[in-house]
Amino acid sequence: MKDYMLANNISIPSIGFGTWTLDEHDICVAAVTAALESGYRHIDTAAIYKNEAFIGEALKQSSIKREDIFITTKLWNDVRGYDETIQAFETSIAKLGIDYIDLYLIHWPNPVKYRTNWKQMNAESYRAMEDLYNQGKIRAIGVSNFMEHHLDALLETCKIIPMVNQIELHPGLLQNNIVHYCRQKNILIEAYSPLGRAKLLDKLELRDIADKYNCSVAQIILRWQLQKGYLPLPRSTNAKRIKQNIQVFDFTLDDNDIAYIDNLAYDDVSSNKNPDTIEF
Ligand SMILES: NC(=O)c1ccc[n+]([C@@H]2O[C@H](COP(=O)([O-])OP(=O)(O)OC[C@H]3O[C@@H](n4cnc5c(N)ncnc54)[C@H](OP(=O)(O)O)[C@@H]3O)[C@@H](O)[C@H]2O)c1
Repeated sequence: MKDYMLANNISIPSIGFGTWTLDEHDICVAAVTAALESGYRHIDTAAIYKNEAFIGEALKQSSIKREDIFITTKLWNDVRGYDETIQAFETSIAKLGIDYIDLYLIHWPNPVKYRTNWKQMNAESYRAMEDLYNQGKIRAIGVSNFMEHHLDALLETCKIIPMVNQIELHPGLLQNNIVHYCRQKNILIEAYSPLGRAKLLDKLELRDIADKYNCSVAQIILRWQLQKGYLPLPRSTNAKRIKQNIQVFDFTLDDNDIAYIDNLAYDDVSSNKNPDTIEF
């Protein structure tokens, strides 16, 4: 698997294994183990996924060295503030059974609990993340679900520009404005729900392209994400599909097909979550 380079020269494997909804012990341990055995070296979790301990178990069982695996976790919406963020970080690494995190993200910019003071609370949490970064306890820091105005606010106070913004991005949801903004600032875009939570996989237009390249729709979408310069985070609980989803480095979509996928419009795939009105 190829790597991307973050703004601070840390390399990050270009596909991460998504673990949202893998909140049952056996399913999560089996899926993460299958991912590691298939060649994934990047796992995406979050405090709210309630599976950090299960992932820790899979890491412990694996013979892969800690430094060869890139682990991302996220600060959930009920926690903001300097001390509270340090505490949440300590809880996450204890559950994961590791002593540093590769990438720590603020999960959402404007939680319902902090709707009246989100700017100030994000600034305080991010200050704690910067200190953890400077102490070597986190190798990279970033955000998730941040739109331009959320990043504008954070950039007024932060000392370290976020290295990553993890957003929903897939065919039918191109997120052009925030992608452009992040590119200007050298913030890597991670694409969550890259397969549109499987809703894209039966789209006829994508099936036609998959037939042309003799691969699956999932592989076409993931290849499209990579050629656009995004870092996709596909999730699967099926060992064959887990493996299939990283077998995307031996073919290249031609420019016409990339442009065709760019122009696909679907109104039933995006989760339509507005970060300023979410109720969590
Ligand atoms: N930051 C955020 O707010 C946020 C929000 C959402 C997600 N995420 C991250 O992004 C990750 C991925 O997004 P997601 O979980 O929403 O969904 P996704 O990866 O877009 O889609 C997962 C679905 O696709 C199916 N699938 C996967 N590979 C397949 C293949 N090759 N062929 C057929 N079906 C396939 C899976 O079913 P099977 O299991 O049956 O294969 C599952 O139902 C999450 O797990 C999480 O890590 C982050």
